[in-house]
Amino acid sequence: MDFNNQMTDPVDKDQVFAKQLSEVKAFEFNEGVANVFRDMISRSVPGYGLLLHMTGLYARVFVQQRSNIYDLGCSLGDVSRMIAEQTSALDCSILAVDNSPAMIKKCKAQHAGTRHIQWLCADVQNIEIQNASLVILNLTLQFIDPDKRADLIGKIFRGLNPGGALILTEKVVLEDQLDNQRMVQLHQAFKKSQGYSDLEISQKRTALENVLVCDSDSVHRQRLEQAGFSEIYQCFQCFNFNSYLAIK
Ligand SMILES: C[S@@+](CC[C@H](N)C(=O)[O-])C[C@H]1O[C@@H](n2cnc3c(N)ncnc32)[C@H](O)[C@@H]1O
Repeated sequence: MDFNNQMTDPVDKDQVFAKQLSEVKAFEFNEGVANVFRDMISRSVPGYGLLLHMTGLYARVFVQQRSNIYDLGCSLGDVSRMIAEQTSALDCSILAVDNSPAMIKKCKAQHAGTRHIQWLCADVQNIEIQNASLVILNLTLQFIDPDKRADLIGKIFRGLNPGGALILTEKVVLEDQLDNQRMVQLHQAFKKSQGYSDLEISQKRTALENVLVCDSDSVHRQRLEQAGFSEIYQCFQCFNFNSYLAIK
């Protein structure tokens, strides 16, 4: 199976950082990014297609009848659409949330016909989570203020039903500096192999400074444990990207 081409919508090429910029501004999920986001994420996150496929499998295993599913930081809604496909026979609702108006506008236009997904433009820190069987935080927690991350994970834990699951995927920082440098080097090699130039890689890195703030593996695990999760598994790693399955 080609895990990188699961969504059939047309994909515009990411050229956001292709030209030399006089000033590199802080990264935003604005309209320019939303227009090319599918291409950007699949060429920037190693294994993104597999992660999407895995989300469908989690939905099959964890989604409960008459429960809610939350896709927090849904971007263009591909995770929600994958879950919707896997849960079509169940009586459940998917709430897909993103605080970027450009992303939610495109979700509503692109997935208009997809059953049982509600698209909401809101800060994930302000929404209520209840009767949840599955919550997805796919590459979103890293954009939340580090001091507020524990509150969000705690709220998700309280809103999950017993047996429900949180899927948390993040770019991580490795605690040993040399290990970290090695993974960063490999991630850069991945991006170059996907056609990004040195200029694009370096300008995007500058734009993401202080916007995407990575935690280490141990910080993620401690936070999940402190929230109360009884089972925590690392189900995916590719270079400096980890995905955790935490079950209540
Ligand atoms: C890397 S993207 C997530 C990718 C997406 N989950 C997927 O798998 O395709 C991060 C998303 O989180 C959103 N985001 C960041 N902070 C947010 C917040 N506080 N509330 C809601 N959405 C947020 C951004 O607008 C962006 O669309």
